[in-house]
Amino acid sequence: MPATMPGARGAVITGWGSALPEKVVTNADLTKTLDTSDEWIKERSGISERHVGGTTAELSIESARRALAMSGVDPSEIDALVLSTTTPDRTVPATSAHVQNALGLSCGAFDVNAACSGFVYALTVAHGLIAIGARKVLVIGTDTLSRITDWTDRNTAVLFADGSGAVVLEAVDGPGQLLAWDLDSDGSAEDLLYSDIGGHIQMEGKEVFRRAVRIMVDSGQKSLTAAGVDADDIALVVPHQANIRIIQAACERLGIPIEKAATVLHYTGNTSSASIPLALVDALNNDRLRDGDLVLLVGFGAGMTAASAVLRWGNPEAKAIDSSLTESGGRP
Ligand code: UT7
Repeated sequence: MPATMPGARGAVITGWGSALPEKVVTNADLTKTLDTSDEWIKERSGISERHVGGTTAELSIESARRALAMSGVDPSEIDALVLSTTTPDRTVPATSAHVQNALGLSCGAFDVNAACSGFVYALTVAHGLIAIGARKVLVIGTDTLSRITDWTDRNTAVLFADGSGAVVLEAVDGPGQLLAWDLDSDGSAEDLLYSDIGGHIQMEGKEVFRRAVRIMVDSGQKSLTAAGVDADDIALVVPHQANIRIIQAACERLGIPIEKAATVLHYTGNTSSASIPLALVDALNNDRLRDGDLVLLVGFGAGMTAASAVLRWGNPEAKAIDSSLTESGGRP
């Protein structure tokens, strides 16, 4: 059911923020320990450098503080925290518990793990919470893939990195931004990309590449159709930042010019859950979106999962629901 239900309570993004570790690892740095080259990495992936360091909670707290400050929402007003990560700091409890405490939130908090599709999964779940009564939801996508990367394996070490992006989602009296969404998963492809507990990422790169293009296009088209819009109507596509060649191939097949894609992977590498919010925040900070513009978020990841969403940016018609309306804070 990818289309937003008519009459469902809508939501708009009112604040956003991102965080990258200070330490930068360039392709030249990697050539000191790996049999690789700057040319190969750039040509095959589009990555020039990446940021490495910190924990999933630390990066989440940083990006979330920025998003909260921008939205003007007090931490006490947040009704739920949804944290997408595939690299939690502990097996138990969820990393969101630590983040919730550090941010001073008093609400339900949980992690979502759908690998690199996770942010779109989390955003969709957050819209669902708002549809059933939550008023303000904090959504974070963070990964510290450097902690599960084998730095002696050139097949993976040149790709993965760390980062975080966050948005504040607020209920509105109106349809909201989310026009349509799609979540997919094909567990039969589990062994193409995985990391066992305590282990490192194992990946069949070529096969993941082949499927990635197919499932991104498939998911993106489902959301476009459900939203009742054409590829031509899309002002900005925010794809998962795994490989510039995957982004190019997917855009071409979707019929969206590559110039409309938000890309940050040249300086972030593949940050899994963080990649879509990092690219979205970068596009917003560079003034690439106007009220009324249509945005397609589309990701794929281990699982293999895929997810997409069509948003109508801004929402001048909608009025934020006054936080004094219900004493329960919208929670049942
Ligand atoms: O979030 C999802 C995560 N994963 C992905 O999205 C990964 C999807 N796959 C890819 O992005 C690409 O398949 C890679 C970037 C991983 C690899 O690019 P490719 O064009 O598929 O290269 P390949 O695996 O076919 O390897 C071509 C050659 C091989 O050498 P031979 O057999 O032609 O002699 C590899 O051994 O490149 C070699 N190679 C490297 N050479 C220099 C593989 N890794 C490297 C390296 N540096 N880092």
